[in-house]
Amino acid sequence: MINKGIILAGGSGTRLSPLTKAVNKQLLPIYDKPLIFYPLSILMLANIKNILMIVNPGQIENFKSLLGDGKRFGIKIQYKIQKKPKGLADAFILGKSFIKRDNVALILGDNFFYGQSLTDKLEKSLTHNKGARIFLKNVKKPENFGVAKIVNKKIKKIVEKPKKYISNLAITGLYFFDNNVVKYSKSLKLSKRKEFEIVDLLKKYNKKNKLFAEFIGRGGAWLDTGSINDLYDASSFVSALENRQGLKIACLEEIALSNGWINKSQIRSAIKFYGKCNYSNYLKKLVK
Ligand code: DAU
Repeated sequence: MINKGIILAGGSGTRLSPLTKAVNKQLLPIYDKPLIFYPLSILMLANIKNILMIVNPGQIENFKSLLGDGKRFGIKIQYKIQKKPKGLADAFILGKSFIKRDNVALILGDNFFYGQSLTDKLEKSLTHNKGARIFLKNVKKPENFGVAKIVNKKIKKIVEKPKKYISNLAITGLYFFDNNVVKYSKSLKLSKRKEFEIVDLLKKYNKKNKLFAEFIGRGGAWLDTGSINDLYDASSFVSALENRQGLKIACLEEIALSNGWINKSQIRSAIKFYGKCNYSNYLKKLVK
């Protein structure tokens, strides 16, 4: 079982400058909530309560004033500073003492997932104790992502941002790893762009036939919020769905309540914490 998760919420965010000059990318809004709520909600939906948040120097207090130690959501959040953006696999080097002897999930702080079958897929992935699991999604512009080529149901090739077309299956920013991940990450070499690359880590698992892929089908949405347009598109998507359905995406207190991690009196405290706003109005409906 996997019951620990890491959220990588640092990075330089230069592509979003000047928005990210003073504020971390993961604290920017996606419609009515900070971006960080969305990946955090995915870990919570996967029943993961023990979370390590990796952030940039100088940003911890901002994250803490929003999320605290997680008690408000019935979870435990610890924080760790990444001094320099040394790549996604650095999460497991920094997270060594958090992971200990356990398996671990990693989600990128700027990734957005939505879809009915997602929770089932997540739960299924949690019970796999061996190897690594990735989630693949069809994309129009594979050159912007890590990409996997599948032949006869096997992962044949993995390339980070391929200049030449190999497939249109992007590797999304949600990964599940067994405990070898710490050892394998430590053995990685810095890439040309001076990062410990997640694709190099995945290749190590693949070499041992221990890399497994799940597909996010047409009914599932995956958006990454790397550029201004992506950020705007994700906001429009959330706004369209929430206003149509009257149900919020990534309402952390709602997920915690339905998981039985908090009670209605904690929702009332959350309403006080947020003050008068639409988000609180939604929480009020949960305790009626
Ligand atoms: O979104 C999925 C893609 O994410 C994958 O398909 C790619 O294989 C993977 O390399 C990654 O590509 P990006 O170019 O989008 O990664 P980016 O540098 O934007 O970082 C993703 C998130 O991780 C972002 O929220 C910042 C954070 N980050 C990144 C690095 C490199 C850190 O917290 N620390 C880091 O050192």
